[in-house]
Amino acid sequence: MVSEKALDQWVVEAITAISRANDLEELKTARLAHAGDKSPIAQASRSLGTAPAEERARLGKMIGEARAAVTAALDSRRDVLEVLRDEKVLQEEVVDVTLPSARGHKGGLHPLTLLKNEICDFFIAQGYGVAEGPELEAEWLNFDALNMHVDHPARTMQDTFFVEPLEARLVLRTHTSPVQIRTMLEKKPPIYVICPGRTYRADELDATHTPVFAQVEGLVVDRGITMAHLKGTLDLFAKEMFGEEAVTRWRPSFFPFTEPSAEVDVLFNGRWIELGGCGMVNPKVLAACGVDSNEYSGFAFGMGLERTLMVRHGITDMHDIVEGDIRFSRSFGVGL
Ligand code: PHE
Repeated sequence: MVSEKALDQWVVEAITAISRANDLEELKTARLAHAGDKSPIAQASRSLGTAPAEERARLGKMIGEARAAVTAALDSRRDVLEVLRDEKVLQEEVVDVTLPSARGHKGGLHPLTLLKNEICDFFIAQGYGVAEGPELEAEWLNFDALNMHVDHPARTMQDTFFVEPLEARLVLRTHTSPVQIRTMLEKKPPIYVICPGRTYRADELDATHTPVFAQVEGLVVDRGITMAHLKGTLDLFAKEMFGEEAVTRWRPSFFPFTEPSAEVDVLFNGRWIELGGCGMVNPKVLAACGVDSNEYSGFAFGMGLERTLMVRHGITDMHDIVEGDIRFSRSFGVGL
């Protein structure tokens, strides 16, 4: 039979263990040991049934008081330990917003690519498609089909990178105009395409030249296309590139693949800047591509991206564009 002394002893042991618990985990261990099913007080409580009837009420009261004392100790210790835990969590998880962050370098688009995208977007918005072709191009598509005969100056070794074996008649394309030919060979008019791409000429890299450069070519072939359509298109484009007040100037020029041909200049910061070459597609070129020039006419234009970028952003050295120094891209607001 459980004695009052034993009960008191258990309560003291329980309260001691509870007060020594330093965190909620330790308190749980103390609860199992001193208030759980296997604890001495719980066992005493279960043995009440076998106690003599006259003792039962007194024993029951004593055991009940002992349990209540242990439960009260557990509750108050839990309240204290919960507050301590919350304080610890707040301290450990504190975020110092002034620390430098571990910023990753994600990379970004080169300003030349951004300009290319800007130009393409302008023409796509007017219903043009984007066409691309290979940089290693058939000599016939780069020259012959464009009415540039074998004795044309651009075909000499000076300008063109010929690729071995020479019998294969492949060149690094000197302009994006072969994409005009590819497009006309593949599609029937009406054709409205813009052809961006990398082009090559055997020039030394210096402040204003680079052997690898970028062009954007435009081609329209449809019924009733006139020079007025070309002028309207490029005037609008000049405003898009250089601002609403941009004025163009048209000078007669010559390209074997357009007739008549012109160079277009745009007035920017008080200077006339060459925007690009253009003209009405030469009927001989239409014929080489199987387009009936009695039914269709077209215009084409081509421009260099590096020069446009240099003029528009006051870049004075081509090296800055080609060298890939990320400080150059950053100066355009490209996040890297
Ligand atoms: N292909 C020409 C060049 O590279 C530019 C051009 C394109 C001119 C289309 C007229 C029409 O110089």
